[in-house]
Amino acid sequence: MNSQPDRTPSQRHSRITGTGSMLPHRRVSNHELAAQLAERGLETSDEWIVERTGIRARRFADPGVNASDLGVGAARHALEAAGRSPEDVDLIIVATSTPDMVFPSTATIIQRKLGIQGCPAFDLQAVCSGFVYGLSVADAMIRSGSVSCALVIGSEVFSRILDFNDRTTCVLFGDGAGAVVLEASATAGILSTRLHADGQHTEILCTPGTVSGGQVLGDPLLKMDGQAVFKLAVRVLDEVAREVLEDAGRTPADIDWLIPHQANIRIMQGTAKKLKLPPDRVVVTVDEHGNTSAASIPLALDHAVRSGQVRHGETLLLEGVGGGFTWGAVLLDF
Ligand code: ACO
Repeated sequence: MNSQPDRTPSQRHSRITGTGSMLPHRRVSNHELAAQLAERGLETSDEWIVERTGIRARRFADPGVNASDLGVGAARHALEAAGRSPEDVDLIIVATSTPDMVFPSTATIIQRKLGIQGCPAFDLQAVCSGFVYGLSVADAMIRSGSVSCALVIGSEVFSRILDFNDRTTCVLFGDGAGAVVLEASATAGILSTRLHADGQHTEILCTPGTVSGGQVLGDPLLKMDGQAVFKLAVRVLDEVAREVLEDAGRTPADIDWLIPHQANIRIMQGTAKKLKLPPDRVVVTVDEHGNTSAASIPLALDHAVRSGQVRHGETLLLEGVGGGFTWGAVLLDF
């Protein structure tokens, strides 16, 4: 699925033509969360969370609001921005680790909510790397000629799998969705993509429960060895950034905006520093969204586009890293 650019003029390419996002209404500040955890006898503080992660608040979905609800909202905004209607869509990929159901896929539920039928729709499970995985798959399918207009959505309700008795993880995550419309184009939008995984590291970041015989077996709440994840993330994000740049014949100096997975401000700044990018070239939304897993990159992209930060014609480096262990990057001209 990794792609290197073919510079022949007749090559079919893919390009992002619209972005969208949706956040739940309920904003939970660090202060509010710390007060809730104190009632359970757990000590944390706004100072600790901000200093270690850069997070000040996150959104939590109300009961009954699922990944498909947030995802379809983000998709509608992206379609509107692209000037497209749901009927134009011929592929739906939803990156999520918190699907509405065991099956069918959240992608087919979103397809139904969009009022369309017939096009392929599937979920993609690569945890926090899910959106870059989805974008790479959609790019490959468009370049192969099998589809022309794809919706790539990252949508999560991570609040449903958080252990609110574990202060080392429950302060980090939030809910939300982001989406892009990716269309066939004569000129290159997506320049290069790289995906990786290393299943040796399953245990450092997982939600090990499963459904069997009408019961949940094992623990269905998120577990993370934060320090192990941190060290791996910093190394692989630098490596994969250099891979996509080399594939596209570009250098770090060509990057206008780094839009990394929004897990921790220190990881994002560390990645930018290694690439010698100034901190103000990094799109940061982790302060207000927390870590929204597969939704974090398209959410950050949409916020940067709508705030006027990211403009058409600029070169963007999107990078994801997460459970699996998985990681990947997409370099694109927006
Ligand atoms: N409030 C107060 N104290 C806390 C909290 C908290 N919420 N959580 C942990 N502590 C304490 C610890 O118990 C420890 O105390 P001790 O020194 O007495 O033992 C101390 O703070 C330091 O803990 P560390 O784990 O060393 O803190 P660290 O600086 O490593 O930060 C963090 C932890 C934020 C989790 C960091 O390791 C991190 O961001 N890791 C990467 C996470 C990530 O990138 N995930 C991406 C993928 S997510 C996905 O795929 C779903």
